[in-house]
Amino acid sequence: MTSFEAQRIAGLAQSDIRLMSRRCMELGGVNLGQGICDQPTPDPVKAAAIAAITGDESIYSKYEGIDELRRRIAHKMSDYNGVSCDPDSEVLVTAGSTGGFVAAALSFIEPGDEVILFSPFYGYHMNVLRLAQPTLKSVTLRGADFSFDPDELRAAFSDKTKAILVNTPSNPCGKVFTRDELSLIAELCQQHDCLAITDEIYEYILYDGHEHLSLASLPGMRERTITLSGFSKTYNMTGWRLGYAVAPAALTARMGVVADLVYICAPTPLQHGVLAAFDLPAQYYVDMARDYERKRAQTMQACRAVGLEPLVPQGSYYLMVDVRGAGLRDDRHAADVLLQHCGVAAVPGSSFFTDPSDGRHQLRLCFAKQDHDLQRACDGIAQLPQALRDARP
Ligand SMILES: Cc1ncc(COP(=O)(O)O)c(C=O)c1O
Repeated sequence: MTSFEAQRIAGLAQSDIRLMSRRCMELGGVNLGQGICDQPTPDPVKAAAIAAITGDESIYSKYEGIDELRRRIAHKMSDYNGVSCDPDSEVLVTAGSTGGFVAAALSFIEPGDEVILFSPFYGYHMNVLRLAQPTLKSVTLRGADFSFDPDELRAAFSDKTKAILVNTPSNPCGKVFTRDELSLIAELCQQHDCLAITDEIYEYILYDGHEHLSLASLPGMRERTITLSGFSKTYNMTGWRLGYAVAPAALTARMGVVADLVYICAPTPLQHGVLAAFDLPAQYYVDMARDYERKRAQTMQACRAVGLEPLVPQGSYYLMVDVRGAGLRDDRHAADVLLQHCGVAAVPGSSFFTDPSDGRHQLRLCFAKQDHDLQRACDGIAQLPQALRDARP
């Protein structure tokens, strides 16, 4: 049969993450593979959304989102991110931050452009960029702190560079980019007159004194940065599909046109509901970070006890571990044994790297789980040495 497939989706397939999730469900295991946070949404936010539905806030909103939400986002951007913006022309409420990223990619990236991204990367970043068909240039994050070689970054830029993508704190490795690193990125963006697209969705989930810094807050960057963030991770509402993009007015207007064509607007009643999130006390964010810090410690301890060596995350709620000390051959062997014999799903590290061999000794675990599930996962991980002994011929 003829292939009806468009060139732009050639090679796109269901990710390892989804495959592991499906196998995990079949086996009744604990899923530390997919980045799903199953904590409850804060009660006042749920109540506000219910009130909006009851009050029939049910029609399309403006494509850029309801006025009050854009105002609250602009205020938060100034307060937390140090980025001042005009709520009327520089804020776009999107269908998850993913909606904003798709709008940015389709609005500004095209064949012939070069886009720089760091490896390991978040799969959606790579695959959404592929839809826009640029040439991808990769800069590898290496070592326990996932730092990069400044010369490798300099060499990745050219006169064809349209954009660089920065995810801080990062999925999958939990890297929080430092001021020095972001300053170099800023300098190169200005030198090569290109855009920066930042994904800051984990901006409140930070450990060990690491601080979140928005690239757009650095001198000369506000006018060339598209900052993407959202509500999914901070307020445990991945299914609500609410995020936002903040960018100079001319860029925001173009992204708005594309977002309108793709999905018209973000869900209106939920836009009203999420307003209540801005009234949560400062302590909410402190408690959330502490809670993840505790879950991180618990997961790292369970891993270390069986020789899975953590690459300690500085932020976000993922943990990469090196599997070699546990007597596992490589990432796929590790993921198979953990799922089949310990009932824990994890994602093979190679799926996050441009050169898969860079991740062949790593696994990614997501620890954004309710305590009882995380405990079950840690108990499963503790079975690993016995599972390996049993598997020996
Ligand atoms: C780095 C990163 N960006 C974006 C998303 C998705 O965010 P949203 O739900 O706002 O589309 C995820 C979800 O796992 C993520 O890890």
